[in-house]
Amino acid sequence: SSPRVRLPQRSERRSSALKLQTKERFFPMAEVIIVPGREAGGKLVASEIARRIRATPDLVLGLATGSTPLPVYQALVPALAGVDLSTVRGFALDEYVGLDPAHPQSYRSVITREVVEPLGLDPARIRVPDGRLDGVAHAGEIYEAAIMDAGGIALQILGIGTDGHIGFNEPGSSFASRTRVKTLTEQTRTDNARFFASPDEVPMHCITQGLGTILEADHLVLLAFGSSKAAALAAAVEGPLSASVPGSAIQLHPHVTVVVDEDAAAELARAEYYRYAYANKPDWQGL
Ligand code: PGA
Repeated sequence: SSPRVRLPQRSERRSSALKLQTKERFFPMAEVIIVPGREAGGKLVASEIARRIRATPDLVLGLATGSTPLPVYQALVPALAGVDLSTVRGFALDEYVGLDPAHPQSYRSVITREVVEPLGLDPARIRVPDGRLDGVAHAGEIYEAAIMDAGGIALQILGIGTDGHIGFNEPGSSFASRTRVKTLTEQTRTDNARFFASPDEVPMHCITQGLGTILEADHLVLLAFGSSKAAALAAAVEGPLSASVPGSAIQLHPHVTVVVDEDAAAELARAEYYRYAYANKPDWQGL
């Protein structure tokens, strides 16, 4: 039988492999930076984001919610003082489904409160997946198209869940997944109950950028703080690639920076090597 011709799929998307060839620098593995604490981690990432925005005023940022990125957003305010941010663009990773966007815990509200308002960004340039029930069936495709129209995400901020999720890609998520509706695990709903009046109020469903979507960002910056993240972080960075640990998808990406405090780094087998590599990092390399 004649060999099957494999047609390029989604050929309009730039593949990571292609980007790799054109990158001016080559990052063969995730760089793990162990910082003294949340504040130091926030400052380090904020200074890189500020540098990127100064160079590219319409930079496209991938924004995460939850507790983890807050020190980054707080440090961005002084880091960007006096910089014109009117053309910065942003895409949130995820949103709850069926929660009124005006609810204080919708990720639209969280991004507005924690990022858009403190930095004075243009709200029209900051997108969040649309989790409203009436449009959610097509919201994923619409979001993917908007990211593509923006030319892709330049720097994606990520946290990691105690169950290993990134975005809301719960264990079992395909590495090829795109923005879609997912059912939250009981673990995630329990973890996020602290933001709601009662655990029952945590929505059951979410809409999240897929792992395939996240892997197309130019630079992934994953932060993790605290001992509750140690096992998931070690599995993501050093464990086998597995849909059971969605965070392990970052190992497929050519440019990843992992910023962790000592507690979150506690289960990393190669922690000493990461410290040694960072201490001897060439000045020219940047983050
Ligand atoms: P957290 O959540 O930052 O609130 O710990 C992280 C995540 O669920 O991705």
